[in-house]
Amino acid sequence: MSIRTVPTQPFDDQKPGTSGLRKKVGTFQQPHYLENFVQAIFNALENGKGKTLVLGGDGRFYNREAIQIILKMAAAAGFGKVLVGHNGILSTPAASCLIRKYAAFGGIILSASHNPGGPHGDFGIKYNTDNGGPAPEKVTDAIYAYSRHLQHYYILEADDVPLDTLGHFQLGKMAIEIIDSVNDYAEMMESLFDFTAIRQLFTGNTFRMRFDAMHAVTGPYAHDIFEKRLGAPAGTVMNGTPLEDFGGGHPDPNLTYAHELVEMLFGAQAPDFGAASDGDGDRNMILGKRFFVNPSDSLAVIAANAHLAPGYQYGLAGVARSMPTSMAIDRVAHALNIDCYETPTGWKFFGNLMDAGRVTLCGEESFGTGSSHVREKDGLWAVVFWLNILAVRQQSVEDILREHWTRYGRNFYTRHDYESVDSNIAKNIMAQLHDNMVTLAGKTFGARRVAYSDDFSYTDPIDGSKSTGQGIRIGFEDGARIVFRLSGTGTEGATLRIYVEAYEADSARHAQDTQDALAELIGIANQISGIREKTGRMEPTVIT
Ligand code: G1P
Ligand code: ZN
Repeated sequence: MSIRTVPTQPFDDQKPGTSGLRKKVGTFQQPHYLENFVQAIFNALENGKGKTLVLGGDGRFYNREAIQIILKMAAAAGFGKVLVGHNGILSTPAASCLIRKYAAFGGIILSASHNPGGPHGDFGIKYNTDNGGPAPEKVTDAIYAYSRHLQHYYILEADDVPLDTLGHFQLGKMAIEIIDSVNDYAEMMESLFDFTAIRQLFTGNTFRMRFDAMHAVTGPYAHDIFEKRLGAPAGTVMNGTPLEDFGGGHPDPNLTYAHELVEMLFGAQAPDFGAASDGDGDRNMILGKRFFVNPSDSLAVIAANAHLAPGYQYGLAGVARSMPTSMAIDRVAHALNIDCYETPTGWKFFGNLMDAGRVTLCGEESFGTGSSHVREKDGLWAVVFWLNILAVRQQSVEDILREHWTRYGRNFYTRHDYESVDSNIAKNIMAQLHDNMVTLAGKTFGARRVAYSDDFSYTDPIDGSKSTGQGIRIGFEDGARIVFRLSGTGTEGATLRIYVEAYEADSARHAQDTQDALAELIGIANQISGIREKTGRMEPTVIT
């Protein structure tokens, strides 16, 4: 077996976004495209020689081909060993778990998360460092810099590795171990939560749950954890077979795309609890009987009830949320007398805080919740956490939320997404918001006065690194907020996100519909951005 040096030319579009490099499958299938990016990763890593990598993906179209290429390139780069998920499959949180558990040098995760898959769908790749978390910006910047000047990549000439066979293989001098994708992760869940109490919840025969794996990566994990280890009846997990194109669906657990589950939970014979996860298993949606739990609220409820789970019984070091996430968690943190950090969008900004022991729980409004047990958000972890809370409190999801709001007040919250907007129009909207923001302070809109308006920037309290341009914020004197930002994960045109939040202390008004409660602020957001006039869109594509 020999190492081949392949001449190549740089691609100019390999800048990693919010979560790695995401492109259409066709882009990745161009000659040298994937190879260039992988070589750029290896060039950016200092001395991986002899070290161990973790490798796996969400099983989407092109996963297997990509794994074979990466294995041969890792062998050429001199890595000592690669741990690969069975059939090339690992959920993102399971990959993070493995990197930490086996003290790996890092890992490569193949996923475009919640974006559709299949030959015409999306593909993605990202690098995680030895803490198990997404590479910080200094690493992704270095990868990008290498990608712009690549002249060669290196690949071992060898046969493909049988990804469907558990066990040990050799690729040149590099060892490969194909490992069970589920076991280590499921064991970690058992160590964090009260499985005995949850098992009793299911054996009581009155509690019913549905979990929608959306034909994505969590199927095998969910069957094992819910139906085998926790004793939920067979059939609790729906769409549990991972498919390369996610059955043609859009594997994003929200009210729009997880409609099959939503219809069940809002139907006549509704189960007590519903949950779903996304393409790569890091997102979650939580539903009660005819009740939707806003992800920002879910984070706040988990924080307020964390002591009920064995892994968190001694309390939380602190919490963190991304800037556009609602401030519901801030109120819980205040009551618990712990710190609450506000970071830019994207999980990579939580890593340093967790590594330094400053925070235990983190979350984003985009259906992402997690803790320092790994360094990724973790969909199934959130679902099991909720089961633990339900098992101990013996109340319905809705009752738990209503009690929570009565105690802390309610942060009404919504996000309006305008997808596939012409990139220039979207950039222009953001540029105008940026120009106008200085003039907004002190202005009155309806009954509300603007307290501040800025472009969010963040200085990491651990390493001092600074991130600017993270979204335009408009804060009102009564605590309401509007945030505008452009998505960093889309692959078609631009996606403009408008986040709207208002605080309501009066429990007599907590039962209102969210869109009604926020209607005035949504109108203000539309007015300030001019989104309707500039895009010709009268409605957002997705409302969460
Ligand atoms: C989106 C979410 C963000 C999340 C990311 C990866 O990024 O908004 O919270 O971390 O996906 O799952 P965006 O497209 O907004 O850049
Ligand atoms: Zn995801």
